[in-house]
Amino acid sequence: MADLFEQNAFALADELIAGRALSKEEFTVLIRAERELSEEKSSELRKKLSERALELKNMHYGNAVYIRGLIEISNYCKNNCLYCGIRRSNPTTERYRLSKDDILSCCKDGYALGFRTFVMQGGEDPYFTPELIARIVREIKQNYPDCAVTLSLGEHTREVYAFWREAGADRYLLRHETANEEHYNKLHPAEMKFKARMECLKNLRELGYQVGCGMMIGAPFQTYETLADDLVFIRDFRPHMVGIGPFIPAHDTPFANEKAGTLDQTLFILSIVRILLPEALLPSTTALGTIHPRGRELGVLAGGNVCMPNLSPVAVRSKYALYDNKICTGDEAAQCKNCLAGRMRSIGHEVVTARGDSKLTEQK
Ligand code: 5AD
Ligand code: FES
Repeated sequence: MADLFEQNAFALADELIAGRALSKEEFTVLIRAERELSEEKSSELRKKLSERALELKNMHYGNAVYIRGLIEISNYCKNNCLYCGIRRSNPTTERYRLSKDDILSCCKDGYALGFRTFVMQGGEDPYFTPELIARIVREIKQNYPDCAVTLSLGEHTREVYAFWREAGADRYLLRHETANEEHYNKLHPAEMKFKARMECLKNLRELGYQVGCGMMIGAPFQTYETLADDLVFIRDFRPHMVGIGPFIPAHDTPFANEKAGTLDQTLFILSIVRILLPEALLPSTTALGTIHPRGRELGVLAGGNVCMPNLSPVAVRSKYALYDNKICTGDEAAQCKNCLAGRMRSIGHEVVTARGDSKLTEQK
């Protein structure tokens, strides 16, 4: 006979699938069950949710996987997030920044390869002033009016976000990292504030960006409860995109000796998020591909529908090391795109080059 905890978890999974809004406590039970039930039962639970997640993804997006060209513009960062390999106190990170011409040349190569979204990501590097970023955004939009520009440049004032939006930026990625304030404070130095992060996300949404939040799975000090907080936050905030990947330790950081997040738990949470937000854009992340050779394929089968191959010049690739052993650091953009297309084909999916805007309907 199955015990009560197990019965309860499977009943909650059914209710989640049926569309009922679970409470934080109920999410906690579900997340605990995935970790603590027998091997057989936990994989049955994962399978139940991933099948529904895949079905919902297919309903809204078919077998298309959107690709975004990621350009890592700078690994200078004034912040000191405890988990991050490019934190300012990491003494061994060899710093670089791309010039405007470098960035535009990445876009040119990317466009020729079929990319229709460019993601400019970087540390919080004061060299890239609001004006400089705006100039680059304007130039990309001028050269490639059919492309979307996504920024992922950390926390800025509402005015700066508004200025970049006016310059033509369409989307912004800023992971919330954790929706639990106490947990946030264990992952970040005192000068970084949970409330400031939340305020940024709210500003971005109000300014008309398509907004992406997200978190690492298996981050130090993460608990079933903090993950449940993440799920409740995501359901209520209804972001257009959610970046979810495993935490992976980075050398020369305070968390260098911590354990990485697991494939199974990451896929499980990805599936739950797909069920909560059926129309969201959910990347199958590079970090997922780093902890398992077929991580990105498995991510798509668990409900993901976006991949973000790297367009950064190969010469700087390995320097943008948020975590150790990152994949694709030696491959040219064209190689990566072909490799990814083959991987997606192997699971019956097709890489598509459309802009791939979110179908998430506007707020309730
Ligand atoms: N492992 C996995 N992901 C990481 N990130 C930063 N450091 C790590 C790490 N060690 C993620 C953060 C950040 C995003 C750009 O990369 O969630 O928001
Ligand atoms: Fe980069 Fe496979 S996607 S080498």
